[in-house]
Amino acid sequence: MEELTMSIPQSMFLVIFGASGDLCKRKLMPALYLLYREKRVPATFAILGVARTSYSDASFRENIRTELIRYLSEDQMDEGIMREFLGCLYYQPMNPAREEDYTTLKKRLDEMDKDLNNRSNYLFYLAVPPALYEIIPQFLKKARLTGSPGMKRVVVEKPFGYDLQSAGNLNKIYTSVFQEDRIFRIDHFLGKETVLNILAFRFANSIFEPLWNRNYIDYVEITAVEKLGVERRAGFFEQTGTLRDMVQNHLMQLLALIAMEPPRQFEATSFRDEVSKVYRSLRPLTEETAKSMVIRGQYTGADDIKGYREEESVAPDSRTETFVAMKVFVDNWRWSGIPFFLRTGKRMPTKVTEIIIHFKQTPYHLFECTGTHCPVTDSLVIRIQPEEGIALRFALKVPGSGFEVNMTDMDFSYASLGQLPVMDAYSRLIEDCFAGDSTLFSRGDTVEDSWTFFMPVLDYWQRHPEAPLYSYPAGTWGPPEADRLVHEAGFEWSNPCKNLTKTDKYCEL
Ligand code: BG6
Repeated sequence: MEELTMSIPQSMFLVIFGASGDLCKRKLMPALYLLYREKRVPATFAILGVARTSYSDASFRENIRTELIRYLSEDQMDEGIMREFLGCLYYQPMNPAREEDYTTLKKRLDEMDKDLNNRSNYLFYLAVPPALYEIIPQFLKKARLTGSPGMKRVVVEKPFGYDLQSAGNLNKIYTSVFQEDRIFRIDHFLGKETVLNILAFRFANSIFEPLWNRNYIDYVEITAVEKLGVERRAGFFEQTGTLRDMVQNHLMQLLALIAMEPPRQFEATSFRDEVSKVYRSLRPLTEETAKSMVIRGQYTGADDIKGYREEESVAPDSRTETFVAMKVFVDNWRWSGIPFFLRTGKRMPTKVTEIIIHFKQTPYHLFECTGTHCPVTDSLVIRIQPEEGIALRFALKVPGSGFEVNMTDMDFSYASLGQLPVMDAYSRLIEDCFAGDSTLFSRGDTVEDSWTFFMPVLDYWQRHPEAPLYSYPAGTWGPPEADRLVHEAGFEWSNPCKNLTKTDKYCEL
């Protein structure tokens, strides 16, 4: 049986299903190139791209070269390293939905093993449409590509499943082929440096922990919005929608990091147990609360930007949501009664991901407050991207006579450290896959916990297609109903501006 050493093995091949797709070109290849440049890949290493497009090794290399030039920055490019990296790329045309093609795949991998001296160690990466998630592991197993000898691991993209039932079914299939700790259900948000820093911020400092609970915190906002629309992914997005694409995974991970108890150790079991506890403490939704606490929206055209329904491959009467705002409660000792407001959408005014912890007001206002933030409420802004940083907003006396107070920001920007990480979330996570470290990947039971929470909403939307889908013009902060959600609770969204020190809704974008 494979020993998990938590270090990069001497030899391993990465087999990418969906090698001609967008994810592979835009994210995986640049991430792999950077890992290669940093010598953080196995000493004996090759990437075998697999897809239906009929490339040869040479034309695949040429194609990836063009994409790398497009997606890497100038200072990341190095001609010599690029040449070496491209030399590690191979391509096998095949239809991943056809069982007999796996015999050809096995033959190709056997030959490569022999030529390059790999010991049948394979990391299979499924960068394919979710419809293929079920059959690929089963066909790999039938073709004897998943057993001994050698290490076998699999990486599968989110969303893992379409609902609770399909996620449960996928879990059964995957665990019948691979051991749980060899299954890497990837959510790239967990590889972001600033997301990981939430853990350091919370658990490497003692000053915030006493405040990190319902006694001092009023509410929490988690926003992950983007300016882009669906781009070339309409086919996928029409089947998926924002709740499955962003909320069920990325936003839930952020929520878990903010709400979790300190893990006993930073390793896979302890960390993922705490994530799971958060998901299991979520106040279950009902049809009633699914109606009132979850707002879905879809963008319409504005200026020269097309509306969602005008995008290519989108049905003219599509009811797929491109925006979700929701109110969530974590019913446990620490968080009882404190709302978490989650919000995500496409075609918003800007791209930003941030978490704002709003602290309660002082019990009594001694001073007169001036400016746009009255009454005074302190807040902590954790900016995940862009302009990564942390800002603490608190009240200070306005200089001069009298005793007025106004808010000010004490901010820290990652850029001030001078050296931002050269590698992105995918590099970090792929390296963890090489090393066999599953800490930052979703565990099967946790994925099901998350789906369990969302099922009442998905069921309600499915049974009531007429349930409101609010429109919002492209380039705005979503439908007014999303504002109502927070206003009802007496709060406001802090629509973020690009500059971290001006995170209020009044600043210009
Ligand atoms: C992906 C979603 O997982 O995350 C996309 O499928 C979304 O729809 C993307 O655009 C956002 O990720 P990031 O890292 O660019 O914020």
